[in-house]
Amino acid sequence: MSLLSMEKIVKEYDGVTALDRISLRVERGSIKGLIGPNGAGKSTLFHLISGVEKPDSGKIYFKGKDITSMAPHEISSLGMGRTFQTLQVWGNMTVVENIMAGMNRRLKGGLFSYGFRLPWIRRSEKEALMEAKEILNAMGLLGKWESMASQLPYGKQKLLELGRALAMKPDLLLLDEPASGLTLTEMRQISEQLLQIRRDGVTIFIVEHHMGMVMEIADEIAVLHNGKLMVEGAPEAVKRNPEVMEAYLTRRPPNE
Ligand SMILES: Nc1ncnc2c1ncn2[C@@H]1O[C@H](COP(=O)(O)OP(=O)(O)O)[C@@H](O)[C@H]1O
Ligand SMILES: [Mg+2]
Repeated sequence: MSLLSMEKIVKEYDGVTALDRISLRVERGSIKGLIGPNGAGKSTLFHLISGVEKPDSGKIYFKGKDITSMAPHEISSLGMGRTFQTLQVWGNMTVVENIMAGMNRRLKGGLFSYGFRLPWIRRSEKEALMEAKEILNAMGLLGKWESMASQLPYGKQKLLELGRALAMKPDLLLLDEPASGLTLTEMRQISEQLLQIRRDGVTIFIVEHHMGMVMEIADEIAVLHNGKLMVEGAPEAVKRNPEVMEAYLTRRPPNE
């Protein structure tokens, strides 16, 4: 059984078909890449999987459960974490507080209904702090744990966002363009982090514009184009596919 699967997902916005009968699977323990030109429907698919939006038709299964009509907090409590295409760290919280905010997955209702008190409700502050620092250490951010998140450079904030998603201890991580706006060095750092996260047992479903990066880390890649699934397969096969070259690669340099 695949960790995540979807069947014939359709989503329309005002007559525009953002997703047209998409069926996809993500196998446990894999890194799956989702690529395609702007407007292809990648972020929309992630919104549907995480429950932020609902498909017009089709089904989504996570760990064998039908999650199609579940609320985002229910889905996340099943073990799905995510980051967004636009950076979402809490700038007026410290770095370590951002990580601790990610630990609330087991708390009913989600972060926003709990405000800042969340991790203390069920576990001691000390224990949560230690766990948060371990994550920051792995991310290379421990030296900045008391800084305000807004004071970190952009690239470090992207890492922090990833750390916060990891603090939920998810089984599946959805990452929407984790490397956007990063320098080449930072991008390599993220790639290494992702490979390590996978070694730690987390399955990853990643949308990323940087072709080089996805090709390097993904086991399998799916290509969306105008809301349709164009090709799916091993990175090498996808790279050589003439349709993909035409629709995507030729219009977007590999490391833009
Ligand atoms: N909330 C929305 N309302 C209207 N149209 C939307 C909305 N979200 C996405 N779309 C449209 O759906 C299509 C896919 O968008 P998106 O999923 O953001 O693409 P990608 O992430 O691949 O760049 C685009 O045509 C976009 O304009
Ligand atoms: Mg997008």
